[in-house]
Amino acid sequence: VQIETEPDGLVLVGKEDDIIKSQRITAKVNGREVVVFYREGRFYALDSRCYHEGGPLHLGEIEDINGQPCIICPWHKYTIALETGEGLYQGVNPLEPSPTPQWQSKGVKQRIYKVTVQNKNVYVSPPDLSVSFDSDYFAEKYKNEGDLAMKK
Ligand code: FES
Repeated sequence: VQIETEPDGLVLVGKEDDIIKSQRITAKVNGREVVVFYREGRFYALDSRCYHEGGPLHLGEIEDINGQPCIICPWHKYTIALETGEGLYQGVNPLEPSPTPQWQSKGVKQRIYKVTVQNKNVYVSPPDLSVSFDSDYFAEKYKNEGDLAMKK
């Protein structure tokens, strides 16, 4: 993947057709490892290192949970909504008479990135570091390490 910075600050991560074909790619955005997924007509971008312990989300499976696509971290199966970066867990409300576990949000844990498609190219917006997320710790930690094992 060739990375260029566009005049308006967006980072080119690949060709639309290529990402649709491969369904996922990884790229460096401001030095951070970012994964871009294509799923049912949409692109999603997030930090590729899981907020829990830095697991490789780019190697995870995607599952639909309550109608939202989520990435399941291959290390300890944490579930992260692709669209929002929310960490999801199954919990029981002890006040319910017959409790069945429901998916609940822990809040936004994984940093997500805005994706722009223009002229068949896919761009990711640089992170707004004035807001911080749990995944920033691992994004920083892996910044200066070598390339990801999986390029496409
Ligand atoms: S590192 Fe992702 S679930 Fe633990």
